Amino acid sequence: MTANNTRDDWWKQAVVYQVYPRSFKDTDGDGIGDIAGVTEKMPYLQALGVDAIWLSPFYPSELADGGYDVIDYRDVDPRLGTMDDFDRMVAAAHKAGLKVIVDIVPNHTSDRHRFFREALEAGRGSAARDRYIFREGRGEHGELPPNDWQSLFGGPAWQRVDDGQWYFHIFAAEQPDLNWKNPDVREEFDRTLRFWSDHGTDGFRIDVAHGLAKDFDSRPLGELGREYTVQDQSNHDGRNPMWDRPEVHEIYKEWRAIFDEYDPPRFAVGEAWVVPEHQHLYASPDELGQVFNFELAKADWDAGRMRAAIEDGLESAERSGGSTSTWVMNNHDIPRSATRYALPQVPARGKHRIAKDWILRDGKSYYEDRTLGTRRARAAVLMEMGLPGSVYVYQGEELGLFEVADIPWDRLEDPTASRTSRNFADKGRDGCRVPLPWVTSDEPQPADWNMDFGQGESFGFSPARKAEGSASADPHLPQPLWFKDFAADRESADGSSMLSLYRTALRQRAKLLTATGDYTSFDWLGMGHDVIAYTRPALDPDGSPATFASVTNFGSVPVALPKGSVLLASAELDADGRLPRDASAWLLLDE
Ligand code: GLC
Repeated sequence: MTANNTRDDWWKQAVVYQVYPRSFKDTDGDGIGDIAGVTEKMPYLQALGVDAIWLSPFYPSELADGGYDVIDYRDVDPRLGTMDDFDRMVAAAHKAGLKVIVDIVPNHTSDRHRFFREALEAGRGSAARDRYIFREGRGEHGELPPNDWQSLFGGPAWQRVDDGQWYFHIFAAEQPDLNWKNPDVREEFDRTLRFWSDHGTDGFRIDVAHGLAKDFDSRPLGELGREYTVQDQSNHDGRNPMWDRPEVHEIYKEWRAIFDEYDPPRFAVGEAWVVPEHQHLYASPDELGQVFNFELAKADWDAGRMRAAIEDGLESAERSGGSTSTWVMNNHDIPRSATRYALPQVPARGKHRIAKDWILRDGKSYYEDRTLGTRRARAAVLMEMGLPGSVYVYQGEELGLFEVADIPWDRLEDPTASRTSRNFADKGRDGCRVPLPWVTSDEPQPADWNMDFGQGESFGFSPARKAEGSASADPHLPQPLWFKDFAADRESADGSSMLSLYRTALRQRAKLLTATGDYTSFDWLGMGHDVIAYTRPALDPDGSPATFASVTNFGSVPVALPKGSVLLASAELDADGRLPRDASAWLLLDE
């Protein structure tokens, strides 16, 4: 157990590893990762040195949105295992000293959830329909949707049911939005939070935390449709009818009372894509306690943007009155950072737009400079891991995986791909959700090995076909051949790999930084516009107080480091001991 995890407030400076279960490790050969796979890989996660794992949804689902369309909030999808598997996984995690966080999806259910089926059966005006957002359509016969909002995944945000009413969905049509004014809805989630807490879960990640409270009644929907869009998630004036509304905080105050029924209190982090000035509201100690700050993930490889992202994170933690900053460079919704940093950096095109255009063209529109991308991703992780607060690492990030841009359209699973039209096409998020490569097979590969997507051995994602004597299904998303260079076993044996860098950085972070128990102190070290440098209180290897410094060079020429001993560097220093471009170093400063 890391020393940090002996504390009740472990989450304030935890490194949390996000598992996307369907793509992590498949133990039964159906081509889909499972809960037993997480248990099997617990030693890997422990050796990596993380404090906690967060599992994206593993609940029964029709997979209209990769599991974020939940049919039953209090069970395991049979394709991923059983509740016994879940209990075993939690026991293994706790034995390894790791905390477990599960994903709660309260904004919408699956259209196969009991609530929605009841709503369809019970008909208009019923109590069952009041759990969702049903409205009459416009036009002579109600044949037009209540307004012309488009869903976040493309296509209309309203879907008509057999008796003519329409229901609202921010995401796919299979994900009807819940009505949080309805007491049954509140009760369903109170039960769910207690259910997983009673099963040993240490905390929760709250999906779309800024979307639950909606006000579609104060003004005619047609009028709202002109003033606001689903896409615009900002709510500066407090009037946005669906995003970041003040009433959403009442829900989290109620949940806090539930979290505090447990000892230690359960932890929660909100996914709220809100303006930085509103983040702290979700992170208040009376509410969720922590919120994701996505500013680092949105920033191009640019010192100015990165500095602003760090400032936003630190400020918002301070304002929350008890939370800590969170640092995120990757998750299952964002093109992978190694690729983002490998593509042209053109801030004017907006967040992730370049990467999305490039994915749309199967990775052909721009040159992906992988050497540069890797170099910068190595530099970025040192910059990030030294900061005060919690760090969220997305599976495969520690292997330095790139985005898989050329998944054939007919293999894509993300609803974004099928819901967007030709004019506004988007291939979606599958490129960062491809099943992980665990082993590099030395076996001769099949004849079609040179195809872009071979029928190989799934790089250890599923059980080996030969060893099993029976065929494993293909991984649910195709793995590219180049995954072999990123397999965990190969990287584990290579001291210069991304995995080795993550392991070393995490070990040092725990010893030098986390051990001080100080998760807020931070000072900028002015080294010019193109350098991000900061200091923090630390313990030296003998356990005496020392000053830690992290320096990242975004400029085009090498920079001299401050005086001290270099602990770790993402790239070799030059002959004069200077830090080259696109690199980071950690030091203990001389007194
Ligand atoms: C969150 C999830 C994303 C999902 C959406 C709808 O943004 O991270 O994957 O599609 O919510 O649940």
